[in-house]
Amino acid sequence: SGPATVSPTGQETGTPQEKMAQGGEFLTTAHGARLKDSDHSLRAGPRGPALLQDHHFREKISHFDHERIPERVVHARGAGAHGVFRGYGTASRISRAGVFAQDKETEVFVRFSTVVGSRGSTDLARDTRGFATKFYTDEGTWDLVGNNIPVFFIQDAIKFPDVVHAVKPHPDREIPQAQSAHDTFWDFVSLHTEAQHHTMWNMADRGIPRSYRMMEGFGIHTFRLIAEDGSTVLVKFHWKPKLGVHSVTWEEAQLISGADPDFHRRDLADAIEAGAFPEWELGVQVFEDTEDQMFAGIDLLDPTKIVPEELVPVEPVGLMTLTKNTSNYFAETEQVAFNPNNLVPGIDVTNDPLLQGRLFSYLDTQITRLGGPNWNQLPINRPHADVNDMLRDGMHQTAVHAGVAPYRPNSLDGGNPFETPDGDRPFIDHPAPVAASVKERALPATFDDHFSQARLFFHSLSEVEKEHTAQAYTFELGKCYEQAVRERQLRALANIDPALCQAVADGLGMPAPKPSLDVPEVTPSPALSQVGRTWPLD
Ligand code: HEM
Repeated sequence: SGPATVSPTGQETGTPQEKMAQGGEFLTTAHGARLKDSDHSLRAGPRGPALLQDHHFREKISHFDHERIPERVVHARGAGAHGVFRGYGTASRISRAGVFAQDKETEVFVRFSTVVGSRGSTDLARDTRGFATKFYTDEGTWDLVGNNIPVFFIQDAIKFPDVVHAVKPHPDREIPQAQSAHDTFWDFVSLHTEAQHHTMWNMADRGIPRSYRMMEGFGIHTFRLIAEDGSTVLVKFHWKPKLGVHSVTWEEAQLISGADPDFHRRDLADAIEAGAFPEWELGVQVFEDTEDQMFAGIDLLDPTKIVPEELVPVEPVGLMTLTKNTSNYFAETEQVAFNPNNLVPGIDVTNDPLLQGRLFSYLDTQITRLGGPNWNQLPINRPHADVNDMLRDGMHQTAVHAGVAPYRPNSLDGGNPFETPDGDRPFIDHPAPVAASVKERALPATFDDHFSQARLFFHSLSEVEKEHTAQAYTFELGKCYEQAVRERQLRALANIDPALCQAVADGLGMPAPKPSLDVPEVTPSPALSQVGRTWPLD
């Protein structure tokens, strides 16, 4: 028998699983019969036709024929690593979740990704980056499925297929692979101006990180934490990299994409292998759980808005250290299934209309991507807490479930009461009040301001970052074929910052439109005069 295999989640050693790990002394068929030859197919004579009887040939080729599974519909390209999260204890006063307890260590798996490109695309694309963390807590698995940008393109999940169709390559020629360099992307973000804030972060240097190790992460939505005494607060989650936030320039990104499209995944794996373990502090911005869920005029349920850290500082609650590379990319990074539904007692969702839709979508897509409803049984997705659900059967079922009757209450199948006493720390859905009217499709008026935070972000940038941002708009819009789309995006920029609009319009050789809304006057940044027509636009 071959060397022992430790499964990625540290479970299932010493079982028949080990024997499936391809470490043995002899080559065998999939059912374990030893083979003499795997290099020649069975033929009728040395020159004769191949024989259907060759079971090894058929098994080898047929299995190979089915090696690929669908890539993720978004975030297809990613890199993962294992690590540990240690709670500081500072969040224990606001959340009963054990993961936050002082010095409590919880295993984690993190997957970083780009959003738009396919599995083989370059790491250095101008794009948002996914930052998804699976905490294997004693109380169940908690997934914090975030990005490296604190806001999102859309406010309502029903628009997700629209925005993704707009950023993915055009269906006729499957170009371009890049997120932002095409008409449909700019058409979408200029028609749906709620996307302008997120787009501004993409055009700024945040869109081309230097390394996964040097990115912030954000839960984006407002979540609700529930304390031991049942009291609640609203929070926004932030990951702060110990190495600081760094980006590359556009020219560097182009060179790296040519020389090493695996730059980010190589950087992550090399750092971990060298013992330079990447670290992030997890922090929360904490808000009172008021009925209107507003803070300083900002609707906390609007995922296109941040709350500035000057107003509400981020309080550190724990440290994550990535310590181990994957041993099998497919089994871990590809088969991992993150899901914003994976919550633990003490952490709950809010009514953010984007988050509400995500609660359906991940579970649904994974039924296709991972071939049925049993992906929780894949080693990387197995909870470290005990599981006693009533789910049965289905495609790729590997468990042999005990008992005869998976229903509750149940007087025949012995023990296992349906009710969990409070002392056993159950997950309780928080009884938040809802509005009287339930048939509502319009978003509240507090979601209407699409420009002021994009302006706030642009003005927070250093001079050189402003210059890069204006150049990025000029370059990316320069790739659009449709003049009307460029014009509409310039009108959105005019409502964010007229000087930025002017610089980009100059770069494109187009007239700058006037703002249609009131825009506060600011002295134009000197960096904007540097933009000019610096890019080969044709
Ligand atoms: C995948 C983040 C909004 C649907 C992902 C991943 C991340 C992410 C990080 C990759 C997970 C991994 O590495 O495996 C976000 C964030 C959002 C957002 C931060 C907004 C704040 C949405 C919305 C929908 C959606 C609104 C749908 C209504 C999906 C789907 C996948 C995905 C279908 C693929 C999942 C899989 O195949 O396992 N998202 N997303 N996302 N997201 Fe989102």
